[in-house]
Amino acid sequence: MKNPALRALLSQAAAFLLVAAVLSPAIDRMGWRTPPLLPGLLQGLLASIPFLRRERWWIPIQICFPIMVLVALSLRISSHWFLMGFLLLGIIYWNTFRTRVPLYLTGREVAMELLARLPEGNFEFADLGSGLGGLAAVLAKEKPCGRFFGVEVAPLPFLIGKARCMHLPNCRMAWGSYERIDLSGFDFVYAFLSPVPMPGLFEKARREMKPGSVFVSNSFGVPGEKADETVVVGGRTLYFWKM
Ligand SMILES: C[S@@+](CC[C@H](N)C(=O)[O-])C[C@H]1O[C@@H](n2cnc3c(N)ncnc32)[C@H](O)[C@@H]1O
Repeated sequence: MKNPALRALLSQAAAFLLVAAVLSPAIDRMGWRTPPLLPGLLQGLLASIPFLRRERWWIPIQICFPIMVLVALSLRISSHWFLMGFLLLGIIYWNTFRTRVPLYLTGREVAMELLARLPEGNFEFADLGSGLGGLAAVLAKEKPCGRFFGVEVAPLPFLIGKARCMHLPNCRMAWGSYERIDLSGFDFVYAFLSPVPMPGLFEKARREMKPGSVFVSNSFGVPGEKADETVVVGGRTLYFWKM
């Protein structure tokens, strides 16, 4: 199974069934006095097995998850809070489990580095996965001669980005996936995503972007595609490709 989040969920479900139907009753039959969190620990250990070889950072998550569930249940917190928390995280992270791109923001140093490279004349700039719209808004304010566009798939970050760009005539935001955006009209395309979508996105950029335009990736290179220039700024590596 390719998607590790789905693998994690299914292995938790399978481990829960094994512990609830087999291990816990067996321990009870032996008359052992065991700590109340033991079933959670057993479930977590079993659910970690699919991650022993790769993506090992899931192991602590898999072990802690059922234990945290037992602790949370023991606190007798109203289930409404969990529903609200789930909905809030849902509108912020949306389909991160599918895209495997979480929300984190471009720092000021990187924004200033990009600003310094933008021309004085007219140009079109796109931020693919624009998050809270901060980068597009900052650049649009500083470069009134350019036109800035952000596309964001998660609803709450998109709305925040839209609000930030509302008073800037040269900045616009769209809700949806960058996969549906035609990149042929842009002179600069910026992406700060994760290693997972980079090969597909780079292929799209090569296919659609016009000659002479620039594709920039913050932090994530593309396997087998050497960048024309790399710059380390604010602790991040920026990769530049001239199309
Ligand atoms: C690391 S954040 C970068 C935010 C912003 N570009 C910045 O630099 O401050 C990546 C964003 O991309 C969004 N994202 C992930 N996959 C996407 C897709 N296919 N289409 C549009 N947005 C996407 C995520 O929701 C997240 O907000």
